[in-house]
Amino acid sequence: MAVTIKSQREIELMRDAGKILAEVHNRLEEIIEPGITTLEIDRRGEEMIRKAGCIPSFKGYEGYPASICVSVNDEVVHGIPNKKHRLFEGDIVSLDAGVIYKDYQSDAARTYGVGSIDAETKRLIDVTKESFFRGIEQARVGNHLYDISAAIQNYVEANGFSVVRDLVGHGIGKEMHEEPQIPNYKPVGRGMKLCPGMTLAIEPMVNAGGYEVWILEDDWTVVTRDGSNSAHYENTIVITEDAPEILSLI
Ligand code: MF3
Ligand code: CO
Repeated sequence: MAVTIKSQREIELMRDAGKILAEVHNRLEEIIEPGITTLEIDRRGEEMIRKAGCIPSFKGYEGYPASICVSVNDEVVHGIPNKKHRLFEGDIVSLDAGVIYKDYQSDAARTYGVGSIDAETKRLIDVTKESFFRGIEQARVGNHLYDISAAIQNYVEANGFSVVRDLVGHGIGKEMHEEPQIPNYKPVGRGMKLCPGMTLAIEPMVNAGGYEVWILEDDWTVVTRDGSNSAHYENTIVITEDAPEILSLI
């Protein structure tokens, strides 16, 4: 499928979806504390999504069993919520969630410290978030797709961390995953030209150590090969004639 350019009406619906998702993330942040189970986070998230009149897009997606991906410490993404897995002080936890509102999707992720975390781990979370903003600075008409990728990679590597290569950001709209793929490292070439009305999920995944990852036996959980911590930050955005608009952040 080719890249889809959204109409004003479609962008308005994606704005609504994004606002709901941003609110879900803001409220989930408040419940992150030592002792909570990853399943409880999923349960609360799913309840909020449904109460807002949305469908949790992850639930059942290619067999994924939950509404919120909860990934702790060396888990990069796609961690499966579990009633036996409690968060501890000093952990970091990435929450990734997606909603469908009136047929349109939004996708966003955040990483939080649990209780107090050490300075280097805090830096990992901050650099990951800032790398998203470095990337989106390049998300302008006339630029090319891999300008976004290069900006993310350069910022992350200048700070001594690495970007995961096996997973990428993506176009989004009526489908969660549309074209184009958006790597967080610069491939050869420039990538496509960016146009108004393109809606993208930009999502740096950043490892404290090497960029290599494994997938666990559950066929979902992606972990760092070297056991180092990993952080994730994602928003759904729209390219406009002017500055890009972040749809999933309030
Ligand atoms: N947010 C993820 C992405 O951007 C999707 C989660 S995978 C799922 O691709 F199976 F949980 F849906
Ligand atoms: Co995504």
